[in-house]
Amino acid sequence: EKAGFEHFMMKEIHEQPKVVQDTLNSVLKDGRIDLAEVGLAEDEIKDISQIYIVACGSAYHVGMAAQYVIEDMARIPVRVELASEFRYRNPILDPHALAIVISQSGETADSLAALRLCKDHGIRTLAIVNVVGSSIAREADNVFYTLAGPEISVATTKAYSTQMMASYVLAIQFALVREQITEEQYTGYIKELQTLPEKIQRIIDDKERIQWFASKQANAHDTFFVGRGIDYAISMEGSLKMKEVSYIHSEAYAAGELKHGTISLIEDGTLVIGVLTQPDLYEKTVSNMVECKSRGAYLMGMTTFGNYNIEDTADFTVYIPKTDPYFATSLAVIPLQLLGYYVSVAKGLDVDKPRNLAKSVTVE
Ligand code: F6R
Repeated sequence: EKAGFEHFMMKEIHEQPKVVQDTLNSVLKDGRIDLAEVGLAEDEIKDISQIYIVACGSAYHVGMAAQYVIEDMARIPVRVELASEFRYRNPILDPHALAIVISQSGETADSLAALRLCKDHGIRTLAIVNVVGSSIAREADNVFYTLAGPEISVATTKAYSTQMMASYVLAIQFALVREQITEEQYTGYIKELQTLPEKIQRIIDDKERIQWFASKQANAHDTFFVGRGIDYAISMEGSLKMKEVSYIHSEAYAAGELKHGTISLIEDGTLVIGVLTQPDLYEKTVSNMVECKSRGAYLMGMTTFGNYNIEDTADFTVYIPKTDPYFATSLAVIPLQLLGYYVSVAKGLDVDKPRNLAKSVTVE
């Protein structure tokens, strides 16, 4: 059942090129995005005043990355909220807003409660869900099914990647319908999405390099993942992967926030992982990494092929293929999944069933 892999997590990491492609194909018709099955008509898309994305854990991290893409590309205001906070804070809800609930299982209690809260306020709800017929899928007005297939490993990998794909598709379609991008940009973005599976595959093919690095990190006590913009959202997911399967304390920081407190934690040998996929923010994050280095940090830098001057700063570098910066999350998350996985294996931990965690959180 693990198809020759030692753990479900690794099997599911390897399934990503296929399930990301499947999820994209499910909404493409003659090379264009078709949301007929999801049930979002053009008029409805035009009427959206703002978007609330509500989710937990990794699905929340998808929302964080999606926020940058949707706001920048489609110019619709987006708020991303943890379902467990949103539901208890008596939010002011705009009746013309669209609520997007993201959930692999479709059974997460807080996400379901948040969905119901939005429905009670008469707000249109769209669920990005993996499990067909789950509670969230049944109760939402519209459903965008991710086609990740059953995910067994407690730590999500392939569901996350398909949720990202669904988010890009929505952003691109919203942007076109609301005339924020040209027809040429639209087809260009879809074409670029088509290249992601093969690029993900290339990163997976290079996994031994991450394995080697991970084997050296098994004794780490603290890890910091830093980035700006979309790279901050990626950092959040990388940090969660690290802590949940490897039991190494880790935190994600917006790189610009380091000097507002966190940098006091950096000491000799502290592992700091800089995520640098966004060209506009590259130099800014590099200077934050330099600041960490001068306090003794051991630096891993992850950036796109071509940015070789990262080697002046980082002790270990990981390069990912070039893509449109909007879609970098889908590539940059892969080495971070592998890193968490290999550190966990190096420590001899139960990768697929980390202590204290459940696959589906149906209690509040
Ligand atoms: C982390 C992880 C969790 C889930 C979260 C939400 O690897 O899997 O953080 O993302 O519990 O679960 P779903 O998506 O089922 O609502």
